[in-house]
Amino acid sequence: MNVIFLGPPGAGKGTQAKRLGAKRGVPQLSTGDILRQAVAEGTPLGKKAKALMDAGKLVPDEIVNGIIEDALASPAVAKGFILDGFPRTVAQAKALDEMLDRHGKQLDHVILLVVPIEVLVDRLSGRQTCPVDQASYGKEHPPKRPGYCDKDGAKLVVRPDDMPDRVRQRMQEYENKTALLTDYYKPRGVVRPVDGVGTVEEVEKRIQQALR
Ligand code: AP5
Repeated sequence: MNVIFLGPPGAGKGTQAKRLGAKRGVPQLSTGDILRQAVAEGTPLGKKAKALMDAGKLVPDEIVNGIIEDALASPAVAKGFILDGFPRTVAQAKALDEMLDRHGKQLDHVILLVVPIEVLVDRLSGRQTCPVDQASYGKEHPPKRPGYCDKDGAKLVVRPDDMPDRVRQRMQEYENKTALLTDYYKPRGVVRPVDGVGTVEEVEKRIQQALR
């Protein structure tokens, strides 16, 4: 099963992609998580990406294309993959098509999480993230022990790009560059719009139905 999660910042892509990956036993590949890890480790990739990410701007296509190219060459994706946060531009989508062709794979589903802007802003203003496993917590999905990750006990942090002015910038990047991808994939009959408002469990059920 090869799946892409599309949707604006705060739509729940990471939350749902992690759950689906765990349930189906396929890796969730998040370019945002991989880039944040590189920033935390201070690698050359992280140094290139940090200023752009903190400002809420997209990092260059060639950087993220390289990350996904490496991931798709790994035996870990033999049974499938879930892409979360990639592709984000038409150029990335075209690059992905070429990579999938080279690896003899095809896309099965594009889950499009639909959430109104006021809900997105509210979710991102209350988000805390685990710096170790990148799990997200929010007002309606709090950690069991306030301020600490349920899974690894790490102290939760607020992402620099969740500041209100950066959130506005990310929404603009989404509208200008990523929203076009729905039309890119529509002719293939793989786009599955899913209402992303409701509890995490309700949205998860809708995704399961959309994948049937
Ligand atoms: P990335 O990490 O991909 O960020 P994003 O797309 O802005 O998405 P978010 O992580 O903010 O939201 P999400 O949809 O995953 O929602 P989540 O599940 O966390 O990218 C960050 C940056 O990296 C980019 O700005 C860019 O600079 C760079 N980058 C990454 N990929 C790139 C690419 N391909 N090209 C170029 N640059 C790239 O949920 C949000 C909150 O809501 C959480 O608090 C969660 O607990 C809560 N929540 C989730 N579901 C529900 C629910 N049903 N009800 C209530 N609360 C909920």
